[in-house]
Amino acid sequence: MDEKKKIIEQHKIKINNLKEFNNYYYNNDNPKISDQEYDALKTEILNLEKKFSFLKKNTVNKIVGAPPLNKFKKIKHISPMLSLSNAFKKDDINDFIKKIKNFLNINQSIQFFAEPKIDGISATLIYKKGLLTSGVSRGDGMIGEDILQNLKTIKSIPKKIQSKEPPDLIEIRCEIYISKKDFEKIKVKFANPRNAAGGSLRQKNPLETSKIPLKYFAYGFGSIKPMTFSKQSEFLQKIKSWGFITNPLSRIIEGVDEIEKEHKQLEEVRSSLEYDIDGYVFKVNDLILQKRLGNTSNAPRWAIAYKFSSEKAFTVIKDIIIQVGRTGAITPVAKVQPVTVGGVVVSNATLHNEDEIVRKDIRIGDSVKIQRAGDVIPQVISVDLSKRGKDSKKFIFPKKCLCGSVTTKETSKTTNKIEAVRRCLKGYDCKFIAREKLKHLVSKEALNIDGLGKKVIDQFWDLKLIKEPSDIFELNFEKVKNLEGWGELSINNLKKAITKSQLISLDRFIFSIGIRHIGQENAKILAGFFGSIKEFIKIFDLKIRKKILSNLVDLDGIGETQILSIDNFFLNSTNTRITKELIKKLNVQDYLLLSKDGKFSNKKFMFTGGFNNMSRSEAKSIVENNGGKVLGAISKKLNFLVVGDTKPTKKKIDQAKKLKVKIIFEKDWNKILNS
Ligand code: IVH
Repeated sequence: MDEKKKIIEQHKIKINNLKEFNNYYYNNDNPKISDQEYDALKTEILNLEKKFSFLKKNTVNKIVGAPPLNKFKKIKHISPMLSLSNAFKKDDINDFIKKIKNFLNINQSIQFFAEPKIDGISATLIYKKGLLTSGVSRGDGMIGEDILQNLKTIKSIPKKIQSKEPPDLIEIRCEIYISKKDFEKIKVKFANPRNAAGGSLRQKNPLETSKIPLKYFAYGFGSIKPMTFSKQSEFLQKIKSWGFITNPLSRIIEGVDEIEKEHKQLEEVRSSLEYDIDGYVFKVNDLILQKRLGNTSNAPRWAIAYKFSSEKAFTVIKDIIIQVGRTGAITPVAKVQPVTVGGVVVSNATLHNEDEIVRKDIRIGDSVKIQRAGDVIPQVISVDLSKRGKDSKKFIFPKKCLCGSVTTKETSKTTNKIEAVRRCLKGYDCKFIAREKLKHLVSKEALNIDGLGKKVIDQFWDLKLIKEPSDIFELNFEKVKNLEGWGELSINNLKKAITKSQLISLDRFIFSIGIRHIGQENAKILAGFFGSIKEFIKIFDLKIRKKILSNLVDLDGIGETQILSIDNFFLNSTNTRITKELIKKLNVQDYLLLSKDGKFSNKKFMFTGGFNNMSRSEAKSIVENNGGKVLGAISKKLNFLVVGDTKPTKKKIDQAKKLKVKIIFEKDWNKILNS
């Protein structure tokens, strides 16, 4: 073959590859390569065309179109689709039950409904007057995609509820899956059954969906009008009689020991089931209690997924290094001989902290057992001492951070004990902490910048393209363009994602800045307290800050630990400067407490003392669910001070009297709630 023909042939192969990737991306919804890799391939072809002009008549520019936008119509869920908190061991289950009892302020045993956790794709089916009118994917939990046509290809999903008196409206939550047997037939196309189900459900053409045999189990509900059920078990029994498929392994269960027993038994039969499961879900069976318990920011308080035990493997520790987290925590990490654990190659495993290394006497060169559970970082669980060499030496834990600063162990406010974790206290002044803070800032729950993941932050940080948060908004795209793996498509996507992230709600913003001990829940509480960024920035002023912090004391959920942490954060001038600069780049929206209609609409409450039949947390959630707001301090703005029978603070009652705030005692509070 002469040279020219060879080049034409090469060009053709590359173009065909690109076409195939396009096909995966646009039509199969299953991109085979990243945006960067895609761009790199396109650039390679363009360079070839530049060099050899005879290639231009079949130029790549002719075939690559813009991605079709919004393939599926977006639909807002009637009620949000939440996720589940996880438990990995008996203690987590004990905690879960304890929290429920505390919240409800009750002591008696609680009945649970146990269901296998199907490892598939969740969807919601909406029936109006018994007819299937809409089918929506989970999406981000608030907004999903209209996949009704694809769901309709699943024959076992009723198009009509088999009942003479169906509810006016019902949202049936279900998990779509592909059986292990059916997956065998299409294995080459997908990594696992879950991916196959997802890929099939999001086909553009329902005919394609119908080719892959999907199945489903219905497990829950969103809105039901009118509501007639009082137990989860009763709900599932009823919808089964209506024609829905429910899981036959579900059952009523009580007490941690029974939970533990059932969990073990299910794990034993796991591999013999026709579908993949990854744990057991335990739900409070009584729907009235479920309603009282309500949700945290993304998961219900009344349910938990008890995951199956992790996969284990044996390997050797090659080195122990330290990593610095965004809160300054120094975590030792074992670099291990790469080993496959549950289908994933592991080469790093966490050693948690200094005390853990001492307790297990873990050393470089040791043969160890490691485990990996779900999405959790693999960990070293034990050392095989029989394999330890004679010249092995104890590991000396470094006392300095990677930045060179001395690290310290703090005393816990709650237990008064010295904590196991060593920390670097330099905040943004430590460049290693700064890098981790950036990763937190761009993460899904914070600014949510797609395309700026952990690896990209590492790359941009190494190249000094991003050192501090505000740099993100002044990124030098000319420089990025020249980096390997970056091209037109990925740069445009990144630009769009950055612009989109600049409009942010106050609670997300507070979470984003990464104050230690301020998670999503606390960020919401603080956002409710400040209301707007204008009020929030007053915290920069030392004098006003002291006053603000003293008012935070009474906010439910915010304790001494959080207040101290907020104070420490803003005492650091670098933190303050960086936060100020970030605010300049953002458009922070006021925190609108969903002014729900209800009997407490627009009313402001405060509590003092404990109640006999509910916890403070529940009292707070009742007020909020009925349109009211709970304030942290007594002021003229307050409408009611609710005084519980157990140890109310006299000072608060006196203050309320002085400001003529209406005082409600426990007996009357109960009457109001029941009215
Ligand atoms: S209940 C509001 N029950 O797990 C709580 N979920 O991690 C909703 N899942 O998005 C979840 N089997 O897709 C529930 N028996 C079951 C389930 C189940 C599978 C999935 C579901 C959900 C995810 C939460």
